[in-house]
Amino acid sequence: MGLENILPTYHRSPTKLPISLNKLCRSKERVLLGFVCFGLVVACFGTVFFLPELRTGIALPSINSVYKVYEHVQKVGPEFILQLPPLAKDDVHDGKSQQHHGQIDKPDFHLLEDQARLRAKIETEERLELEQNQLKVLPKPMIPSSKSEAGDSRSTLSNGSFKKESDKNIVDQPKIRLPKVQGGDDVEPDIKAKRETVRKMMKHAWDNYATYAWGKNELRPISHKGHSASIFGSGNFGASIVDGLDTLYIMGFMDEYKRGRDWVEEHLNLTGVSSELSVFETNIRFVGGLLSCFAITGDSMFREKALHIAERLLPAFNTLTGIPHALINIGTGTSKNYAWASSGSSILSEFGTMSLEFNYLSDITGNPVFRQKIDQITEVIKKQEKPEGLYPNYLNPKTGRWGQQHISMGALGDSFYEYLLKSWLQSSKTNDEAREMYVDAMDAAVAKLIQKSNGGLTYFAEMKFGRLEHKMDHLACFTGGMLALGGTHLEEPLKSKHIALGKAITHTCHESYDRSNTKLGPEAFRFSDAIEAKALKSNEKYYILRPEVIESYFVLWRLTHDVRYRQWGWEAVQALEKHCRVDGGYTGVKNVYSDEPTQDDVQQSFFLAETLKYLYLLFSDDELISLDEWVFNTEAHPLPIKKVNPFYRSI
Ligand SMILES: *[C@@H]1O[C@H](CO)[C@@H](O)[C@H](O)[C@H]1NC(C)=O
Ligand SMILES: *[C@@H]1O[C@H](CO)[C@@H](O)[C@H](O)[C@H]1NC(C)=O
Repeated sequence: MGLENILPTYHRSPTKLPISLNKLCRSKERVLLGFVCFGLVVACFGTVFFLPELRTGIALPSINSVYKVYEHVQKVGPEFILQLPPLAKDDVHDGKSQQHHGQIDKPDFHLLEDQARLRAKIETEERLELEQNQLKVLPKPMIPSSKSEAGDSRSTLSNGSFKKESDKNIVDQPKIRLPKVQGGDDVEPDIKAKRETVRKMMKHAWDNYATYAWGKNELRPISHKGHSASIFGSGNFGASIVDGLDTLYIMGFMDEYKRGRDWVEEHLNLTGVSSELSVFETNIRFVGGLLSCFAITGDSMFREKALHIAERLLPAFNTLTGIPHALINIGTGTSKNYAWASSGSSILSEFGTMSLEFNYLSDITGNPVFRQKIDQITEVIKKQEKPEGLYPNYLNPKTGRWGQQHISMGALGDSFYEYLLKSWLQSSKTNDEAREMYVDAMDAAVAKLIQKSNGGLTYFAEMKFGRLEHKMDHLACFTGGMLALGGTHLEEPLKSKHIALGKAITHTCHESYDRSNTKLGPEAFRFSDAIEAKALKSNEKYYILRPEVIESYFVLWRLTHDVRYRQWGWEAVQALEKHCRVDGGYTGVKNVYSDEPTQDDVQQSFFLAETLKYLYLLFSDDELISLDEWVFNTEAHPLPIKKVNPFYRSI
């Protein structure tokens, strides 16, 4: 089956149909049309009810599109059927939001707001003001008890997300179909069981963190105490809590989620803290994690915390070019770069990995400053001539000139490329600049860096001062998923080319796992006449619970439904259980080629955020955090796609 069937493009403008109909038809016809559509809804609903397997949307694309149409009618909801005139924007927003740049001209596709407007109209006058205040933020979803953990997420969410009183007032109101963020069990018992194993791994990792290192950044699972890396500065910022929360929620661990959420509310506060933080890591783990929780749950506390932290990062952008520094002292606001980075350069993968979070933050807070910072970075890097079209890893923030000519799809480069693609997708494909930059960057990278080994393995080499180094980082293995995901959204001939490359790279990365004794992959692997897809130096042989290979399995599974990706994911689960699981959580290992590797005694926060989340989703159905509705930030925190995902929650 073709990939085009899996990622339908008609999701892009779900409200197009009713808008044009509203314009075309006069009121009588509209009433009539309303009845006809209502009949259709009933008919479609019947069909879907009696053929539940259609819901999975895997096997039968044509019937599936009927279901999608039904969903769209559902989404359009009572405003269409009941013929209520849409309220003017002034009726729903207060004066403040009018000032936000670009807000008024943009068409409002916000489905939930449509629903909410209707609600406001029906409510009595004295309720109106209260309702309007609630509209700015979606009401907090009800937190189900742990008993309903495995329950149907749709009913839980739609029940929790809407006010009871309005439900009473609207007779036969069709339910909005919200993005699925919980549930999503596969029908096959074998896959169900595998997913349950992953879920228990999360429980084991989380419970031990909560027992031995609560509030600390990370857990030392063997010595049973807290751990922190320099990227987190000197404070206890609960990195594992913030990174793990959306995973807990998606897996339905609601008691654990609630406890983490309350910790964030009470303790995550940078006011008065003096500590030097990595701007990049703080953005992808903290800002990204909080934004994801805000999108998924609608709990505005997360938005406030994300804003609070992102604001503390802003002084790092006060450089001559607007390219941010790598490190910021959040107490003093002074910032600087790493001394080792090409005479004080900023790093491509760091300043190039802010856009998803910052653009989203501007949209949900109405504060344009975050988007402006991103636009400035884009302007600077677009202006600089790229050596043979390639982006070097270093850029001087004073001059805007490239530093050392190192080019890599792994460390120091990686997520810059990912964010070009995903910025385009996040914008519902309206950000053509990001698309163009992605396509150009990949054209050059594929032409200059893609290599094939003697044994036929495809890989991304690195380039240093014009010479290829035949080494690929574990970090670079995310490119398998990225190329395939990008390919599905591009036109031929790039489409087939990128999808094929994505598969080939993922195959190579699997080989790097398969060729080790532990069946875990090394930090970096090389290709020469003597070795293929194996680490050479001792400092390349470790595995620290990284997600990138599993991430590509997950993306390729969603795009192709080739069972090999689930098999490979399961191999990784078994290897993790065998070599990384200890009584106190999960640890990395120092040498993947040893039968009994030494353990490093660190449970990385990204194991909770990324590795376990991608494994869980690999064994879930496609609707759970659908790739049509979400983009994952580089820490695997799902962020909603504008216009198609009602959880976007724009102000
Ligand atoms: C929705 O939640 C309310 C409590 O908030 C409960 O009384 C009601 O029975 C729930 N409805 C459904 C359909 O679960
Ligand atoms: C952080 O704490 C200060 C008081 O120390 C408080 O005024 C502020 O609102 C808090 N910020 C957040 C985002 O919780």
